[in-house]
Amino acid sequence: MRVEDFDMFSTLLKQRSGLVLTRDKAYLLESRLMPVARKWNMKGLEELATTVRTRKDEALLRDITEAMTTNESSFFRDQKPFDQFRQLVLPKLMEARAAKRSLRIWSAACSSGQEAYSLSMILNDEAAKLAGWRIEIVGTDISAEMVERAKSGIYTQFEVQRGLPITMLVKHFKQNGDKWQISQQLRQMVSFREWNLLGDLSALGQFDIVFCRNVLIYFDQPTKAKVLESISRQMPQDGVLYLGGAETVLGITDKFKPVDGQRGLYSMGGFSAAGAKVA
Ligand SMILES: C[S@@+](CC[C@H](N)C(=O)[O-])C[C@H]1O[C@@H](n2cnc3c(N)ncnc32)[C@H](O)[C@@H]1O
Repeated sequence: MRVEDFDMFSTLLKQRSGLVLTRDKAYLLESRLMPVARKWNMKGLEELATTVRTRKDEALLRDITEAMTTNESSFFRDQKPFDQFRQLVLPKLMEARAAKRSLRIWSAACSSGQEAYSLSMILNDEAAKLAGWRIEIVGTDISAEMVERAKSGIYTQFEVQRGLPITMLVKHFKQNGDKWQISQQLRQMVSFREWNLLGDLSALGQFDIVFCRNVLIYFDQPTKAKVLESISRQMPQDGVLYLGGAETVLGITDKFKPVDGQRGLYSMGGFSAAGAKVA
């Protein structure tokens, strides 16, 4: 790939999705953008680059942006955050919201929906305690294709074998040929929308619990700070934020602080895990 084309694509991607690509990732750009060039009946990446420069076709720019997203996800990914959610965060916030009886949960950068559905399974287990509560789970992602997949709730054998306990598979999924679809009941608990974390988040409303995992790793420091600050505006003081295992707020923003003794969990200061034990 020509250096000027690499620079043009990487600038475009940084602006549109926050993705930072260094020159050693040129092979990634090539392998992921070739299918886009073919889809648009172009001979190769030079023609794709020329078209982007000369014609600002939004559909083409979206295809390029989506092709470069990494959509890796799995049910109950890393397990610990979900144990923490069930044993610590949910009981504490239910206590704090006892009068209001409502909780809103956001899976920001939800990919194909496994994170949001994992949460819905936990909430379904706790249904008796949550009777009369208004619980909302919202999943958002920049990729229209991922949002459609998440809405369908359909997964391959490989996907349901990764991290999903067999009891949950049997309880909540129906097999259809070589695919598995999550039950209508759980699909009704979750809504999915296309949303860019770099944009205005205010229309999404306020969330008590935010899972924003394994997406900040693709951004540079100023973008991470901007996204974390936008997220903080959508949360109350005692809300909690989950980041991925390779992500932190430390050295990036002072809006959030780590929750004592709880790895990967952050709050704006109003949430305390004092006395809590997560098995
Ligand atoms: C590696 S997946 C993480 C999925 C899930 N959170 C998890 O931890 O399993 C990263 C997701 O972030 C999405 N993404 C990347 N940039 C984004 C942006 N600017 N706004 C919203 N979503 C974005 C991608 O489309 C992709 O689905």
